[in-house]
Amino acid sequence: MKEKILRILREAEDYVSGQELCEQLGVSRTAVWKVIGQLKEEGYEIEGVKNRGYRISFIPDIMTEAEIGSRLDTKVMGRCCVCYEETDSTNTRAKRLADEGKPHGTLVCAETQTGGKGRRGRAWSSPPGESVYMSLLLRPLISPIHTSMLTLVMGLAAARACNEVLERSLVEKVPKVMVKWPNDLVLEGRKLAGILTELSAEVDYINHIVTGIGINVNTKAFPKELAATANSMYLAAGRPFSRAELAACCMKHFEACYDTFLKTEDLGALREEYESLLVNKGRQVQVLEPGHTYTGTALGIKKTGELLVEREDGQVTAVYAGEVSVRGIYGYV
Ligand code: BTN
Repeated sequence: MKEKILRILREAEDYVSGQELCEQLGVSRTAVWKVIGQLKEEGYEIEGVKNRGYRISFIPDIMTEAEIGSRLDTKVMGRCCVCYEETDSTNTRAKRLADEGKPHGTLVCAETQTGGKGRRGRAWSSPPGESVYMSLLLRPLISPIHTSMLTLVMGLAAARACNEVLERSLVEKVPKVMVKWPNDLVLEGRKLAGILTELSAEVDYINHIVTGIGINVNTKAFPKELAATANSMYLAAGRPFSRAELAACCMKHFEACYDTFLKTEDLGALREEYESLLVNKGRQVQVLEPGHTYTGTALGIKKTGELLVEREDGQVTAVYAGEVSVRGIYGYV
């Protein structure tokens, strides 16, 4: 009911009467009044005027089930949503919730992570209240060897979402958010987001997949060691963004991209758009395989998700996401 009240009040252009709320929700005035009280305690500013009703005048930037749910526009993704003030890692939480039986499409979010995980055992710095840390639990009936494509699906969906939210804000001169194969989003040549996909499977059967993403949304300054290679939407646009709106928008695009992916179990129908956002395309890249490094030009991706790299001798290699790290030869991109 909380998320329905939030949606009605946010979308209304004027006051909404208590009577109207009761009728739309099929609950008593006392029930509405109680929820309004809870929302105020959570930091919402809601004016209540006699004979006119309620009007929302301030929405805090919080990652709660109600705030995200009130913005969701999906059938499956994020419909079950669990939010924490603090957790070790939303990926680890999502895996635990998977073992407890939570459904396909469950979204796990946190205001802060005490053990945020990046790729290759690195840590993902997760200060409270400024960024999106979320993980999506999937139970797809696909072959485990197709799992790495889901990182690209999430990358494309999240890039679409960031671009939609940036465009909606009408801030001029913010360049497009791009994808850096296989698991980063890039803004102005610096890292905006990272994706970590984890798999629990038998040889030929997926128990579940957790794909987690950290997006630097309202970060005002990065620690010295990250400042040259990291960016946030706030730093690029000069204004803050609603993290819940961005999370819900990611769910909308993920659901659409995922449905397209499932039809063929490959990226055939998403490849053109992915390549149009691929920051590596046409650039010199360094491929760091275990025990072997080489450089070449990134041409695009195969429909199965590998990066196509043309070496100096003209030979084209398909680079598999699980094995390598790809860097620009002059820097991060
Ligand atoms: C990377 O770039 O190395 C991947 C970073 C992934 C970070 C996100 S934040 C939400 C989710 N929970 C985690 O512990 N990691 C991912």
